[in-house]
Amino acid sequence: MRVIRSISSMQRVSLAWKRAGVRIALVPTMGYLHAGHLSLIERARKVAGPRGKVVVSIYVNPTQFAPTEDLSRYPRDLRRDLQLCRRKGVDVVFAPDNADIYPNTPGAEFSTWVTEEKVSRGMEGASRPGHFRGVATIVAKLFNIVLPDVAVFGAKDYQQAAVVQRMARDLNFPLKVVVAPTVREPDGLAMSSRNKYLEGPLRSDALVLSGAIRRARNAVKMQRGSRTALSAARLKQDLGTFIRNVPSARLDYVEFFDPRTLVPVSEVKSGVHMALAVFIGKTRLIDNARL
Ligand code: PAJ
Repeated sequence: MRVIRSISSMQRVSLAWKRAGVRIALVPTMGYLHAGHLSLIERARKVAGPRGKVVVSIYVNPTQFAPTEDLSRYPRDLRRDLQLCRRKGVDVVFAPDNADIYPNTPGAEFSTWVTEEKVSRGMEGASRPGHFRGVATIVAKLFNIVLPDVAVFGAKDYQQAAVVQRMARDLNFPLKVVVAPTVREPDGLAMSSRNKYLEGPLRSDALVLSGAIRRARNAVKMQRGSRTALSAARLKQDLGTFIRNVPSARLDYVEFFDPRTLVPVSEVKSGVHMALAVFIGKTRLIDNARL
């Protein structure tokens, strides 16, 4: 496994692969890898094939964090990440530096951004202004640096995957975006690098997210066969109460929407997608699922 830090080396390696007709699969990450990331790496290997190359990027992208957010406390452990990647048969880990990704040359600072203006509007986009501008920009840059044929993202960040798919289509990136399912702990908690912050009772309090999804699923099931519609507003209210029962939990948003367009719906039924963000203590967690 090669570890590449410079943008020009990565581009050189990828261009050589391209000329040789080698398929490239990219898994973009911010590191502190867990089983969710590893499942994306496995998927990347599958789509790249045994002759293809799997590239994992590890880069904590500062521009997708707001000034008030947890950029400086974001967990990092590159040594461990490299070990995990090596064990998974990754071909290249691309781990660039901030100064190369966002040049700060006086008078010629980084000044070009990618903004998706529809699916990025609500939910994470509304709660974290600027977040998806940072995500779309770094992902576009990674696509131009690594030149993948396939890029693998997790359904854990459902809206992010939608933004990336829309961007790739709108800007004609010649690649396929694959979205792989959310990997969960045995008790239902969606795996996340931020779960590391859940100390003591907060760990079990965090089950309120997957619990809310289960509750919504039950509500949809109960509704079947009855003639009245299940109102999104009423279900939001019910879930708000359910979440408030956990003292460390503070609901940021819960939304029900069309899985393709991400447009909110007023009636919840089977096939509708649900997403929520909840602070557990100081840690903000997200989850989502098809109902
Ligand atoms: P990060 O949070 O490290 O996640 C990297 C990829 O892993 C994303 O596609 C995310 O959806 C996926 N992932 C995270 N937890 C998962 C889980 N439990 N199951 C399945 N997939 C999971 O998302 C980012 O980094 C960044 O925004 C990035 C796309 C790298 C741009 O900076």
